[in-house]
Amino acid sequence: MFKIVVLISGGGSNLQAIIDHIQAGNINAEISAVISNKADVLGLERAATAGIDHHVLDHTIFASREAFDESLAQIIESYEPDLIVLAGFMRILSDGFVNKFQGKLINIHPALLPKFKGLDTHQRALDADEKEHGASVHFVIPELDAGTVIIQGIVPVKSDDTADALQQRVHKIEHVIYPQAVKYLAEEGLTLKNGHLYHQGKTLLEPFKEYLD
Ligand code: GRF
Repeated sequence: MFKIVVLISGGGSNLQAIIDHIQAGNINAEISAVISNKADVLGLERAATAGIDHHVLDHTIFASREAFDESLAQIIESYEPDLIVLAGFMRILSDGFVNKFQGKLINIHPALLPKFKGLDTHQRALDADEKEHGASVHFVIPELDAGTVIIQGIVPVKSDDTADALQQRVHKIEHVIYPQAVKYLAEEGLTLKNGHLYHQGKTLLEPFKEYLD
């Protein structure tokens, strides 16, 4: 069975979307564990409700980022996962951690990368007068939000949009593309070699795309 560990810091609606697809039989995989760096978040309740092992690893008790990442890596490795999914995990991971899991570590970023790396993406998309915005699932490399993109979810920007309204629309497409990316990796042999995507034996020149009207 293809095994997944999910890292969260909050609400875990993307975690829930992946749980729902697995439970519905759409993705042939199991979530072995959910790890949060924050206690008492809704995402941990979602894991408990689904009967998934869950852990809190409070980063504030560690002397350094590297020490936290080492403990995190130990918990992850105890599950021998095929894939590690960052789903609203609000910690920058050290280069050592990222390199250890390279090719198996994915993240969802709320923008159409390479546009709007970093924070405040929805307001920045509005300020830049973008006509389209969205989210990207990408492999994680040491450089922030810069790894190869697997799939993008694209939403229209409306003339009367606020950052909140846009964020909600982007969240909807996130819940479509994150389970889809997991399915490509778990079932369809999507891999990364030298920074290029291979899907069912062919090189992919562009990421997959999904649109929300
Ligand atoms: C999402 O907007 C995602 O793009 C970002 O963090 C948020 C997580 O939301 N990386 P949730 O916890 O999955 O609801």
